[in-house]
Amino acid sequence: MLLMILADAGVHHYDFVLKEENFTRLCSTKSMLVVNGSFPGPTIRVHRGDTVYVNVHNHGNYGVTIHWHGVKQPRNPWSDGPVYITQCPIQPGSNFTYEVIFSEEEGTVWWHAHSNWTRNSVHGAIVIYPAQGTTFPYLQPDGEEITILGDWFKSDLNLAVEELLDSGGNSALDPDAFTINGQPGDLFICSKETTHHWLVDYGKTYLLRVVNVAMNALLFFAIAEHNLTIVGTDGAYIKPVVTSYIMIGPGQTMDILVTTNQSLGQYYMAARYFTSDTLEYSSHNYPKGNATAILQYRGNYTLTSPSFPTTLPFYTDYNAGLSFMKQFRSLASQDHPVDVPQNISTRMFVTTSMNENVYNLHKYLAASLNNVTWIDPTISVLEAYYRNISGFYTTDFPDVPPEFFDFLADSLGLDVTQCLRGTKVKIVDYNEEVEIVFQSTNVFNSSQNHPMHLHGYSVYVVGLGEGIFNPDEDPKGYNLVDPPYVNTATVPKTGWIAVRFRANNPGVWLFHCHIERHYTVGMNTVIITKNGGTPETSMQDPPPYMPSCGSSLFSY
Ligand code: C2O
Ligand code: CU
Repeated sequence: MLLMILADAGVHHYDFVLKEENFTRLCSTKSMLVVNGSFPGPTIRVHRGDTVYVNVHNHGNYGVTIHWHGVKQPRNPWSDGPVYITQCPIQPGSNFTYEVIFSEEEGTVWWHAHSNWTRNSVHGAIVIYPAQGTTFPYLQPDGEEITILGDWFKSDLNLAVEELLDSGGNSALDPDAFTINGQPGDLFICSKETTHHWLVDYGKTYLLRVVNVAMNALLFFAIAEHNLTIVGTDGAYIKPVVTSYIMIGPGQTMDILVTTNQSLGQYYMAARYFTSDTLEYSSHNYPKGNATAILQYRGNYTLTSPSFPTTLPFYTDYNAGLSFMKQFRSLASQDHPVDVPQNISTRMFVTTSMNENVYNLHKYLAASLNNVTWIDPTISVLEAYYRNISGFYTTDFPDVPPEFFDFLADSLGLDVTQCLRGTKVKIVDYNEEVEIVFQSTNVFNSSQNHPMHLHGYSVYVVGLGEGIFNPDEDPKGYNLVDPPYVNTATVPKTGWIAVRFRANNPGVWLFHCHIERHYTVGMNTVIITKNGGTPETSMQDPPPYMPSCGSSLFSY
């Protein structure tokens, strides 16, 4: 019996060589860090329950870490990756082997750099097939395709971010194009030759694995004249959602069935920005264009220009984004119930705000959770926690905001725009049932959607509503039967979400907004789940070698 289990779980080895290479887009060339010479980077393919060792060799010129986004890494925060949270950067000229432990994930997740803004060029998909001997819960697709939605900046991004932070962070840093599989596509200058083509046969059903790797942008995506049937998100199955477009936040993944039942021809697959910040839409200079790829039928027919998806919502169509978010349900049934925590022992109410912070006599743009803006420690939180070294973080991340005000009011007074700087973590006991309600605020007149990503877990999104959360009324409407199970849950600009999880993964886990602009200025905290009483409920021992903390590319 034991032998069988050992034989079932596969072990794979990958080498990731990080190196600067030249890439040309939009008629201009820049050098950027990529993995194994490719952009987007290599795809990792595993079966459910496998373990992968990835040896990352840094041949670049600054420190980097890599995160396995959506992989829960049971008991293994050592290989989770976020810089200064679970490790220090892998310095140029050195290497580090990550042990990536797959458990309950099935579908698509991804990997990306988790230091500075390097993830813009250092990312790739992770495909997790059903465990050997089991099958996909839907009809077996005839083929599959990976669609990575990203963005392109002509500038050296880490330098640009450094300059932005030095200037107080108040100006915009906008991409020059959005991309599909690394290419802006036909509708951007100098991009027509390299547009990504997806060749399909008529009358088949394909599984499209969509990942949003963009730095800051929630995106709409659609395929001209083809319906999309979403069957999974964030490495978990959902009840099928049939739709003519999707809205996908940075960090999210979606598994979508596409049936090729239209006349032989070419069809645009298109992605465009979805902004919940109308001021930003009118004032910023980011591409109000459409990234495209082409779905192309094989066969003999006269080529005409591809048709464009008429169902793609407008950039500022807030309702199209919000109503889309409300449709997801776990693939749960009476026979396969999901483990939604029902007896909450830790309750938190957390506000998401953009703030202004005065520090060293300068004003900085900041972001906060419960009015605390996160400051990275100089060694990792995990190391400080494991080795019991005090002075690097405090355990007083607040369960509620310091002040309850009319969170979504139009012109909030200056008193609420200031935030506290700190390295405050939340500690929970093993197996606690945690509920967090995230409340959007309009501090600084800049309420917007925040895709909140928890490392080490997925969470059940049991509620999503508009306005200010009402603790007496709103829980009555919770979905405790088949809520979606996700690693990235979006707090809507005009309201709140309620998420639940069981704290059964001991370790140090980052919780942050996946809009890089917000994370960079402090919209994050750390949840430390304590060990349970046994070896099986405790963190693994650290690997023999962890990178030590030298200097990083920038600090703020
Ligand atoms: Cu996709 Cu903390 O990351
Ligand atoms: Cu955010």
